[in-house]
Amino acid sequence: MNNQVHNVIGKSVPRDDARSKVTGQALYPGDLTMPGMLYMKILFAERPHARIRSIDTSRAKRSAGVIAVYTANDVPKNAYDLQIKDQPVLCGPGSNTPGADVVRFVGDQVALVIAETEEAATIGRDLIQVDYEDLPVVTDPLTAMQPGSILVHPELGDSNVCVHYRIRKGDVKPAFEQADIIVESEYRLPFQEHAYLQPEAGLAYIDENGRVTVQVAGQWAHTDQQAIADALGLPLEQVRVIYPSIGGAFGGREDMSVQIVLALAAWKLQRPVKIIWSRRESIIGHCKRHPVTIKAKWGATKAGKLLAAEMEIIADSGAYMYTSNKVLGNTTIVCTGPYAIPNVKVDTYAVYTNNIPTGAFRGFGGPQGNFVAEMQMNKLAESLGIDPVELRLRNILKEGDTLGVGTTPPGPITAGEVIETAARHSGWVRDEMGWHKPSISRPAKGYLKRGIGLAAGFKNVGFSFGYQEHCWARIELHGSSNIDHVVVWHAGAEVGQGTHTTMIQMAAEALGVPVDCVTLMTTDTATMDNSGSVSASRMTFMAGNAIRGAAQAALEKWQTEERPAVAEFKYLAPQTTPFDKETGHSMPNFAYAYAAQAVEVEVDTETGQVRVLRVISADDVGQAINPRLVEGQIEGAIVQAQGYALMENFQMKNGRVLTDQLSTYLIPTVLDIPDSVNPLIVEVPDPRGPWGARGVGEPPFLPFAPAILAAIHDATGVWLDGIPATPEKIIIALKKTQSLAKNS
Ligand code: MOS
Repeated sequence: MNNQVHNVIGKSVPRDDARSKVTGQALYPGDLTMPGMLYMKILFAERPHARIRSIDTSRAKRSAGVIAVYTANDVPKNAYDLQIKDQPVLCGPGSNTPGADVVRFVGDQVALVIAETEEAATIGRDLIQVDYEDLPVVTDPLTAMQPGSILVHPELGDSNVCVHYRIRKGDVKPAFEQADIIVESEYRLPFQEHAYLQPEAGLAYIDENGRVTVQVAGQWAHTDQQAIADALGLPLEQVRVIYPSIGGAFGGREDMSVQIVLALAAWKLQRPVKIIWSRRESIIGHCKRHPVTIKAKWGATKAGKLLAAEMEIIADSGAYMYTSNKVLGNTTIVCTGPYAIPNVKVDTYAVYTNNIPTGAFRGFGGPQGNFVAEMQMNKLAESLGIDPVELRLRNILKEGDTLGVGTTPPGPITAGEVIETAARHSGWVRDEMGWHKPSISRPAKGYLKRGIGLAAGFKNVGFSFGYQEHCWARIELHGSSNIDHVVVWHAGAEVGQGTHTTMIQMAAEALGVPVDCVTLMTTDTATMDNSGSVSASRMTFMAGNAIRGAAQAALEKWQTEERPAVAEFKYLAPQTTPFDKETGHSMPNFAYAYAAQAVEVEVDTETGQVRVLRVISADDVGQAINPRLVEGQIEGAIVQAQGYALMENFQMKNGRVLTDQLSTYLIPTVLDIPDSVNPLIVEVPDPRGPWGARGVGEPPFLPFAPAILAAIHDATGVWLDGIPATPEKIIIALKKTQSLAKNS
């Protein structure tokens, strides 16, 4: 074997899908067609809480072009979800699942209409008559928590509180008594809509082996397969899931949308069935980021040493669990920030309401927890008269220090490195007195105010709380004396971030072959084992370890003259543990990544508009496998976080969505994004990661919102305790401080 090409790691090789995507050849679920294909439309509940007395589908069934109408009693096992099966596939009477006759949010699915054309399906859907008995609605999680509240799931027990975590480390009470400074605040963070480029869509059909097959955009093909098989009452091998190109996911595609209903229709009709949700259906029909209310009380000494942190976190879970239990676990871990705090008390709750269910969204609970920690640090810095970088570094978590969960994060802890890197590159200087914030040049016009703010963040890589993380890969080596062609099989989803290119690079490096020798086969449950989810910033870490293991095993077979040499490998990540029920004590994660950002803004004090001038983002990714893709993740995360922090204003009223279109739910466009983003890749290898790699999908999202609120404060003197920092909120806050100043 004389192939020995190395050094593919750290090279910005072009994406394997670049050409097909820019030429439009790449097919997304909505592009797929098949001869004889039918179209599906879903009847959504469009009311937040009601019992369905009866459904009359007779007129719909007689409507021209309609082939079939399905309701709850057509679903073999009418309950699903990733964590607990609290959600009916179709709501209505007739299935023997307790509570399935009740709709609990506007996007609950009631009936499926399958027709020759999309128009015929729409007409048929509008002819379905549902007799609803409206039920009282509860939409405020604080109200929903109270004993005696209207219950969203009476079949599950007598409380809407579906998650409660406790952290008890040290004793906060005496610590607050010793504190020289206490900062108390209450923060409110909003829903966020994923706004994928392509809404939920898919094509289901019966494949050549008689399997019901769904081509869809998801994040974990094997859990989609499992959920479909469970609901349809089919053996796993009777169900096949394939991912074509995917137009973004961001966590929102972890939970089911069209998978089960498409499979149900195709299986019953034995014909291909297609669906594409409208943007409105996508917005009302699928999970959002958790809105939270957080009360925080942090105490420190005059010298800037943190003594205690106490927080109460209340999250709206919406109508179903989705992944709330895991999301809020993350919020709980990171809400103290990457700082050593000897006394910590946290109570975290997730509460069922009749709002849209909330679930995974880039950062997976991290942004909410992290926001609080960083806001508290910036406010403490101001109260103490200590520079915010200096205060952070005086309390930075180091090897041997413990988080609120009582254990040290595994792997090198590099919160300090990323903070220093972001600070230095944005003009902070350090002298014998410590760190000092740069002074910002003043704009010529007096109503424009400039300011700079900084925040940090940290996030687990991989699944937490005792789940045995695993990832599968297979490698085939073809050739005779030299390896001239490699086929890598891996079921990980490419959701747009470039992970498949990274897999090809890691396989090439592990085998010592050029990248153009490597073909990647993905993502199909019929030909691949389980490679786990594209989430939790885990895919580079997990796939790299799996591919490295498979490559090593394949090379050993190659040495014994096996042709082709084929090997599989299942990487098992180090074990973690769940929270102790009383104290939260645990080793919840096996790897972390760290980020810090400085943001410079210009606030128009007459209109309240915030312009983002400059973002400096330092991210410790361990080892950038492909630096350009890492930069892409950093830039994308910043723009998405900018939407969260400044613009995206998801509004629900009495369980109905007021911002159900992208004309009312505004996300950043190219005209809104920062004038400049400087991504600084920090590389402190994690010995457990492949070539030292950690993860990058989520961490650069985390610091942005608190950093920009610090920058707005620096510019205007106003602290906003919630986002989005819309012009309206900024003007109101400015007026309030002006009138306070006048009256005093
Ligand atoms: Mo994610 S928010 O772990 O897909």
